[in-house]
Order: sequence, then structure tokens, then C-alpha cells
Amino acid sequence: MTINLVLGTQWGDEGKGKIVDYYSADVDYVVRFQGGNNAGHTIKVGDEVYKLHITPSGVIQGRIGVIGNGCVIDPEVLIHELNDLTKRGIKPQLLISDRANIIMPYHKILDGAEEQFLGEKKIGTTKRGIGPCYSDKISRNGIRTIDLIDPDTLEKKLDVILPIKQKILDAYEINNKLDKKEILKAYTDFGKQLKSYITFTHIELNKAIQKGKNILFEGAQGTMLDVDYGTYPYTTSSHTIAGGACIGAGIGPKHIDDIIGIVKAYTTRVGEGPMPTELFDRTGKHLAEIGHEFGTTTSRPRRCGWLDLVVVRQSCMISGITKLAITKLDVLDGLKDVKICTSYMLNDKKIDYFPADIKKVEKCKPIYQEFNGWDKINKNTLKFSDLPKNAQKYLKFIEKKLKVPITIVSIGPGRNETINV
Ligand code: GDP
Ligand code: IMO
Ligand code: MG
Repeated sequence: MTINLVLGTQWGDEGKGKIVDYYSADVDYVVRFQGGNNAGHTIKVGDEVYKLHITPSGVIQGRIGVIGNGCVIDPEVLIHELNDLTKRGIKPQLLISDRANIIMPYHKILDGAEEQFLGEKKIGTTKRGIGPCYSDKISRNGIRTIDLIDPDTLEKKLDVILPIKQKILDAYEINNKLDKKEILKAYTDFGKQLKSYITFTHIELNKAIQKGKNILFEGAQGTMLDVDYGTYPYTTSSHTIAGGACIGAGIGPKHIDDIIGIVKAYTTRVGEGPMPTELFDRTGKHLAEIGHEFGTTTSRPRRCGWLDLVVVRQSCMISGITKLAITKLDVLDGLKDVKICTSYMLNDKKIDYFPADIKKVEKCKPIYQEFNGWDKINKNTLKFSDLPKNAQKYLKFIEKKLKVPITIVSIGPGRNETINV
């Protein structure tokens, strides 16, 4: 039995989908434990490309996907994804927690309204209703999956919630009348379509652990988007770190074997908020172009910069990361020099931690270690020792600085473009 956890160590889009798919070959269950359809995970199998937002990536390999209680679900998006996969010849096996919260129409409207209200100070959210849905969960006004299959309870809850939401929409001067009948009908219908998947997933998972099954947890977003440890308030609204898996799936920490941190060989970020190693020059553009750095969910261009080890070091510490998977190393091909940030200068002082104060983060100037680049990685490389010598040096430096072993190096989006170290 192995129970492993895959996490993003940066600002998301590290290549979690690819690595989860790779590890899914040997597991029984793949579990999402936080986030919603703000995530966009890409899996490339041969010429087929799958972009999943809420369905766990393991379903592509035919594994049982679990959407845990820590997730927020837009049922319309989930149903669309399931239908799309079925059309493409994949019949997803899925279990949905009866306790996961549901993204309602007013959450999506409010996400847009709050962003508009913030103006220049906006977060740059995906506008999928994630923040407002998690806010309602914490303030105990949430609708949960179990409510979708109980129209009486759903109606009673809507009777309390809708008048309050209407007042808020009116305050934002949004001309949108929330129609209880319409919402009740649509969401009861979603409930009917999802009923066969809804269950007590925490019990199923704990039974699976007792039976010695292999389980993989699939993180969404990245550590720097964690609501406590990220660049708050420029974060998402859930816990993206290892601890989030226990809460968001209902399993005890002692069961987890390896915590695999996914590190993109450089840094990207979508949305607003500081990113100390961001590049505004030709190299930044080069990384965006060669790495096809456009958001999987919103198609927005991703901001690009050098690898930031202050960020990844914090991620390794907070989540107790035991192994590293380095992705997109091939994107650095052909650069004369490559750089890694090892610490920051903040007001004439060298620091090697990530400040909580966003104003301080904005002032942090990266201190770089420079490396000679390499020409081109052969995409058929299967062994670490066959990588260009300078690429090996780059990776060895990361390993040494983080004191965590690199066990996977990804040199392309495909399943086979993966080196097991
Ligand atoms: P996720 O959100 O962490 O799952 O990452 P995304 O799927 O949003 O973004 C990662 C992108 O990089 C996707 O288009 C992947 O197909 C692609 N990708 C993943 N690994 C590699 C790699 O090693 N090299 C290259 N060139 N592309 C990769
Ligand atoms: P994956 O799983 C990159 C970012 C948004 C925004 C902030 C808050 O594909 O790595 P939200 O809609 O969550 O309230 O937006 O978080 N964000 C992501 N950035 N990858 C993601 O997911 C993201 N999910 C949210 O751009 O800055
Ligand atoms: Mg993504």
C-alpha cells in the first residue's frame, strides 16, 4: 500500500496533471481534496490532450476519481466534463463527497462583482465563484452536495440565503434578480444527474486504506496560492499545502507516505500579486512562448520568471515534501545562461524566507546564482546521466539547496517524456 500526495510548490500550473497521470498507472484512487474548477490540469496521451478542471486527473488512466469534502463543485461544469470524457471514450469512475460545497449562480456573479469593486486592487481571480463559495462554507451558509439530492432541504436553504444574496447584489448595483424557482429546478436536476456518484467518500477512502489500496492525492493550485501561506490576499481560498489533504479528504496524516512537490524549472503566475523573480524582458517572453504559458482555465497569459528557491524552500518546509518532480526543464533549452534565485535583498538586508507582508514582498530583489545553459535536451532521454551536463548541474544545485531528492524530471508534456531518477 502506498499513499502519496502531489502538490504544486509555486503559483500553480507546475504540471501537476501530467505528474498525477504518470503516477496513476500504479494507483487505485486519485483524490482531489481542495479547490474547484479554478484548476486546469493538462494531460497529454499520444496526440490526445485532456484539460480537466474538477475531475481528478487519474480517471484518464481508468482509476477511481474522488472529489473530497474540501473541494467546491460547480455541478454544471462537472457534468459537462464527465459527458465530454464519455464522448471521448473514457467512462469516468467517480465518487463525490456528500460534504463538498456547491458553487451556486450567485457565487459566480459575486466573484465578478467583488473584482470589479476592487478595481486596480483586484485579485485577478478565475471568476469561477471559488472565493464566495468558500466564504459561505466558512460562514455556514453553504449548499452541500447532499442538499442537491434533497429538494426540500435545498428549498429551505435557498429561502434563507437568496434574500441575503439579493441584497448584496443590489448593493453592488448589479441588475440580476435571483429566481428561486429557476435555481431550485436547475440544481435539483444537477442533483439527479450526480446522485449515483455522491457518497461518504471519507469512509470509502479509509476502508480502501484498511484494504491496502494505493491512493494518490492530487493538489490543485500551488503553495503560494494557499490562503494562509501564499501571497495573501493574492491567493485562492483553500489550503493547497499537504495539511489540506487530511482535512479535505478525511484521512489521518499518519497514512501518507511520500509528499511529492512539483517544481516547474522556472516560475509562472496568473493573476495579480507580487512575484519577485518576474522577468519583463526578452527572456520572460521567451519562456512564455516556448513554455506555451497561457492559463488552462482562463487562457490568460502567465507571467514568467526565473526559478525562485525562496518560494520552493518554504513549500518544502510547510508541506514536509519528501521528493521533488522537476517539470518543463526542456523549456530552458537554448538559453545562454540560466538563473536560480537563492535569497532576496530586502532594504539592504539579505533574507531567505518569504515575508507575510505583501508590501515587503513587493520590495524583495532576487539574488541569483548563474549557470551556463545547454543546447537541446533529447526528448527520448530516459536517464538522468544522459541529460546535457549543464542541465544536470542545474538540477543538482536545486537538490542540494532544498535537501530533497529529485525523483522525476519531466522534459516534455507527454507521458513518455519523463525521466525516473
Ligand atoms: P497543472 O495545473 O499544474 O496541472 O499544470 P497545467 O496543465 O495548467 O500547465 C502545465 C502545462 O505544461 C501543460 O500544458 C502541460 O501539458 C505542460 N507540461 C507539463 N510538463 C511539461 C514538460 O516537462 N515540458 C513541457 N514542455 N511541457 C510540459
Ligand atoms: P492549477 O490547479 C494558476 C489563481 C488565480 C488568481 C488566484 C485566485 O491549474 O494550478 P480564484 O479563482 O482561485 O479565487 O483565483 O488564484 N489561480 C490559479 N493560478 N493555477 C491554478 O490552478 C489556479 N487557480 C487559481 O489566477 O490569481
Ligand atoms: Mg493549471
